[in-house]
Amino acid sequence: MPPTMMALRAHARGGPEQLVYEQAPTPEPGPGEALVEVHAAAITFAELTWDQSWTTGDGRDRTPVIPSHEVSGTVAGLGPGAGGVSPGEEVYGLIDFDRDGAAAQYVKLPAAHLAARPRSVAHAETATLPLAALTAWQALVDHAALKPGEQVLVQGGAGGVGSHAVQLAAILGGSVTATGRAAQREFVLGLGASAYLASDSEQGGEQGGESAAIPPGGFDVVIDTVGGAVLDACYGMTRRGGRLVTLGEPPDQDKAAALGVHATFFIVTPDAVELAQLAALVDTGRLRPVLSQTFPLREGRAAFEIAGRPRPPGKTVLIVR
Ligand SMILES: NC(=O)c1ccc[n+]([C@@H]2O[C@H](COP(=O)([O-])OP(=O)(O)OC[C@H]3O[C@@H](n4cnc5c(N)ncnc54)[C@H](OP(=O)(O)O)[C@@H]3O)[C@@H](O)[C@H]2O)c1
Repeated sequence: MPPTMMALRAHARGGPEQLVYEQAPTPEPGPGEALVEVHAAAITFAELTWDQSWTTGDGRDRTPVIPSHEVSGTVAGLGPGAGGVSPGEEVYGLIDFDRDGAAAQYVKLPAAHLAARPRSVAHAETATLPLAALTAWQALVDHAALKPGEQVLVQGGAGGVGSHAVQLAAILGGSVTATGRAAQREFVLGLGASAYLASDSEQGGEQGGESAAIPPGGFDVVIDTVGGAVLDACYGMTRRGGRLVTLGEPPDQDKAAALGVHATFFIVTPDAVELAQLAALVDTGRLRPVLSQTFPLREGRAAFEIAGRPRPPGKTVLIVR
């Protein structure tokens, strides 16, 4: 392994202006870890604002840091005791946010967090999946226990997590209503939603008015990827005994209890078994990765700078090789 690699790094806490493309030491896999030669890495625009992105698990500064925590690549080496994947295997995974990410030629992570990547799509598409698809899967399956035939509302259906939640809820047999801007209606209906409520003005809600898309008594399951006022509205849209899963912020348990709603917030965790299930859904053509745009690794800073600007739905991905 070469002693150094090219990487996108930040030497001081801040925003995209801190990111520099430079030489860095090639990581060495420790016990239980795999070294992955990165082909593509997806970014999460908000990650530079999170404490974990700058500190170790016990809160110590760990600059310089490497961002981008979703990887698709090839196993290049294994540390002592690492198993489950083999050198040369094409894999993908979610990298914990309190360790260096994949905006680099190589990244190390626990081998147990890697799964064989879907082979029917390119590395760039593969890299869009780990965070968003795992979050959506864990929200629907692990936390909401969605059952076939249930009515599901996905708030923010065109977003990174939302676009996967819409697809997965439909795959799991739910009847899916989604919200988002009017301009995203066709995109979201194309993912498998059967009704769409536009959150912005001109075109209004679903034909027949917003109330036509809300089942009497409320939705069985509501997934909120937006927060704020949108989350406030979710309690009353969930049926008594229904499940509300929030992703951006914890729910107000008093409001939920007053309406008989089971409300949960969770943080996604790496899970190789679930990644393998997601890869199978991609390879059977049922789950579609949503790639917004790509940047070469050397332009990684520009990739982070487009946050907030109009762009196609889906994840922004750094192409490394
Ligand atoms: N808890 C966890 O483990 C976990 C994991 C992943 C993400 N998250 C969090 O989940 C949230 C969503 O993440 P993401 O990556 O999916 O973000 P995202 O891609 O920005 O998606 C949010 C979506 O919500 C839409 N939206 C904004 N305002 C809306 C409104 N009033 N009504 C309906 N839709 C609206 C946005 O549309 P526009 O883009 O057009 O504004 C966008 O499509 C973030 O807070 C993120 O930090 C949590």
